[in-house]
Amino acid sequence: MFKTYTTLEEATHSQPRVTALLACEKNLMPASWHMPISKSPFRYAVAVREENYTHQLLKEHGSFTLNFLPFNNYESMDLLGRVHGDTTDKLSLSKLDVESVDPQDNILLTASDFIYECVICDSYKNGDHTIFIADVSKIHINEKQNHTPMLFSGRGRYTTVGETLYVEKTIH
Ligand SMILES: Cc1cc2nc3c(=O)[nH]c(=O)nc-3n(C[C@H](O)[C@H](O)[C@H](O)COP(=O)(O)O)c2cc1C
Repeated sequence: MFKTYTTLEEATHSQPRVTALLACEKNLMPASWHMPISKSPFRYAVAVREENYTHQLLKEHGSFTLNFLPFNNYESMDLLGRVHGDTTDKLSLSKLDVESVDPQDNILLTASDFIYECVICDSYKNGDHTIFIADVSKIHINEKQNHTPMLFSGRGRYTTVGETLYVEKTIH
C-alpha cells in the first residue's frame, strides 16, 4: 500500500543522502544534492539553490572543495545550514579546524574523511537550483578514515550506515 504525492514538500519521506560541506573560499555550505557524473575524467555535480550565498560565490570564484565529514559532526552541519555566509562567518561558527587551502584558496577541513578539490567546468540552471559541474582535480583521503558517513534524510534527520558487507565478484 502506497500513499502518492505530486510534490516533494508533501511527500515528507526519508531519502538518506551522503552530505558534505562545500567550501568556496572560507564559506561553508552543507550540501546533500550532489553526485559523481563521470569516471575518467572524474567529474562531479552539485545542485545549489540560487538564494544561497554559495551560488554567487561559485559563479564568481569558479571552484570549491567538497569535505566529507563523519557522522559525529551532524550538529555543526545542521547549524551551518541555517545561516548564510554573507552575514555570518560560518567557519568561525563551525569551530572546525582548517588543514590547508587548495591553489584557489578554498579551505580543506581537517575532520574530513575525504575531500575533493573541484574546478567548475560547466553550469546550467535547472528548476530552482543551478547544477555546477566540476573537474575533480585532487582527491584527499584521510589516513584515519572513519567509515561512518553522514547521511541526511531531510527535515533535521541524520543517520549513518551499519555493517559493510562484501559481495564476491563472480565470472559468468
Ligand atoms: C544537511 C543539509 C544539506 C543541504 N543540501 C543543500 C544542497 O545540496 N544544495 C543547496 O543549495 N542547499 C542545501 N542545503 C541548504 C544550505 O546549506 C543552506 O541554505 C545554507 O544556509 C546556505 O549557506 P550560504 O548562504 O552561506 O551559501 C542543505 C542544508 C542542510 C542542513
